[in-house]
Amino acid sequence: MKSGRDFLDIGKVDGSVLRGILTLAHRLKRAPLAIQPMAGKTLALIFEKPSTRTRVSFEVGMRQLGGAVTTLSGAEIQLGRGETVADTGRVLSRYVDLIMIRTFEESKLLELAAGADVPVINGLTNQSHPCQVMADIMTVEERLGAIESKTVAWVGDGDNNVLNSWIHAAGVFGFTLRIVCPPEFPPRAELLIAAQKAGAEVTVSADVAEVADADVVLTDCWASMHNSDVAARQTLLTPYQVDAAVMRRAKPEAIFLHCLPAHRGEEVTDEVIDGPQSAVWDEAENRLHVQKAIMCWCLGVGTEGVHE
Ligand code: CP
Ligand code: NVA
Repeated sequence: MKSGRDFLDIGKVDGSVLRGILTLAHRLKRAPLAIQPMAGKTLALIFEKPSTRTRVSFEVGMRQLGGAVTTLSGAEIQLGRGETVADTGRVLSRYVDLIMIRTFEESKLLELAAGADVPVINGLTNQSHPCQVMADIMTVEERLGAIESKTVAWVGDGDNNVLNSWIHAAGVFGFTLRIVCPPEFPPRAELLIAAQKAGAEVTVSADVAEVADADVVLTDCWASMHNSDVAARQTLLTPYQVDAAVMRRAKPEAIFLHCLPAHRGEEVTDEVIDGPQSAVWDEAENRLHVQKAIMCWCLGVGTEGVHE
């Protein structure tokens, strides 16, 4: 029997809970909690891929909440080798109170969550990056107000884990999502259908003119950590670079977001990422605040007056 709640994907958590997590994140950013809700608790971080932001923001966030952290590299533990992933979840649950994993296939995340008796958080898979998109939405709302009425334009790789979480979010929050990508790298049809069924306006086009009047312009790297077809991606995605001309198509007050790490001169120019519309450093900072709120929700601590 699991103690607490998993945070596996935006589409798997109720919209009112996500709203509560965002409210708590804003509150935690304004002022630290009077109590240390994670005192006596330990978070395990498992990384099967590299990370700067996810690792540091989870480590620092857990410590700020009064808890302890153990960080494990996938290469150094027995994940899926000496034992099943579910068995690793069972064993870790005897030592720690919360687990975050960054891995390859989503099936590994799900197997870990099924085996673990403690909550599991998705710190990125090939398929999704929900903590990132929660931080992105927090950043949009800080700068521009409620996400529900906004138009978000994604320009770049259509088959991308961050984009997939944005499509999940469109289904939950109901904003307009315009995806501009090469036909060779389209978004996943089943995700689009689910978001559209939930009432979101999600469109797909190869034409950057679709950025017209967007409130938010977003992109990510052309080749994610799990992609091997790097050369083909470079060629096909070059016309989708976010430069000043693309930003001029959006609203004058539009913001630019990128989960980082950015490949300057590829998916985004220096002029845009260093320019006045860029909110990428706030976006990176907000990983810390929103993940503290996610951890509190998973364990049901520090959330008084916000959830349920
Ligand atoms: N955006 C993000 O998840 O960054 P890291 O890969 O550095 O964790
Ligand atoms: N799409 C990128 C995100 C990195 C945070 C990747 O998976 O490599």
